[in-house]
Amino acid sequence: MFRNFKTVSRVIFGRGCFAQLSDILDDQRKGTDSCMVFLVDDVFKERPLGARIPLGDADLLLWVNVDHEPTTRYVDDLTLRIKTFRDRLPDGVIGIGGGSTMDLAKAVSLMLTNPGSSVDYQGWDLIKNPAVYHVGIPTLSGTGAEVSRTAVLSGPEKKLGLNSDYTLFDQMVLDPELTAGVPKDQYFYTGMDCYVHCVESLTGTYLNAFSQAHGEKAIGLCREVFLDGTPGSDEKLMMASYMGGMSIVYSQVGICHALAYGLAFVRGIHHGIGNCLAFDCLEAYYPEGVREFHRMMEKHHIRLSRKGLENVHPEEVERMVDVALTLAPLWENALGQDWEQKMPREKVRGLYEEIIAGG
Ligand SMILES: [Fe+2]
Repeated sequence: MFRNFKTVSRVIFGRGCFAQLSDILDDQRKGTDSCMVFLVDDVFKERPLGARIPLGDADLLLWVNVDHEPTTRYVDDLTLRIKTFRDRLPDGVIGIGGGSTMDLAKAVSLMLTNPGSSVDYQGWDLIKNPAVYHVGIPTLSGTGAEVSRTAVLSGPEKKLGLNSDYTLFDQMVLDPELTAGVPKDQYFYTGMDCYVHCVESLTGTYLNAFSQAHGEKAIGLCREVFLDGTPGSDEKLMMASYMGGMSIVYSQVGICHALAYGLAFVRGIHHGIGNCLAFDCLEAYYPEGVREFHRMMEKHHIRLSRKGLENVHPEEVERMVDVALTLAPLWENALGQDWEQKMPREKVRGLYEEIIAGG
């Protein structure tokens, strides 16, 4: 069976295209008292972008904090705030920020039309009703969240996305100008999320020509950005993020992502840095990719932050292993159908011990 996947309906790309957001939203506004909800990373509160948001009279602007990765509880709280703001649904939800903000916007737009808690929908195709119209505007490049059919959330029991066709954005606004001013380390870690998407997709057993075409172009752009230092890096990394995301849409990520999920769930380690910490220890599985990753680190004078990995208790390692092992498709993509024989629990534990010890 071939997957009949859905893509984002509309995309606008180009330096400065954020200025067209007002016109894009006008097409979706219903009536004179139309309400759009903007979920914006609170780092922009004091930055010029904050003042450029095209707020209508009845619109609601919610600054969101993504110091910690999004939780089901945070999504439920935001949804309730929007529902109590007025008695009918907004005409749209617009997420402006990095991958976590994208995920929040997707999840909130789904929860506005689906009853209960977001916890109930962590999984695959559990969402029943189409979401409110939603727009993704990334201010960081690399996560691929702008094209994915998931909104990754940490719940009380698991870190798992709301995966559905309804999750996909209706509109993407890709403006490379918005990624200026990202701190150097964060730029690197998020860019490496894209690089790892490509490596895991291109070396996986699920690979097909569709994923390969997108993955090869994306990894080439990553090399231009992180090894060659050619001009136009912001544009290139934004397109790499998009194409890396498209590559994994039709294949899958792999071991590094499975391990990063465990680090995030148990120790709250952000996805980008979690991937870097895990990938650093995966030369046995991705030899060329990890060597190239090390060259990129060297070129950009990156020393991986180990914040969050202090005094990890053996029980926490076991929980990390539990989380990682629930992600069967990722292991299968990396190692094949007999992945459970190749990757018994003690081997996963060994990888975590290596990550925690620092490679
Ligand atoms: Fe990722």
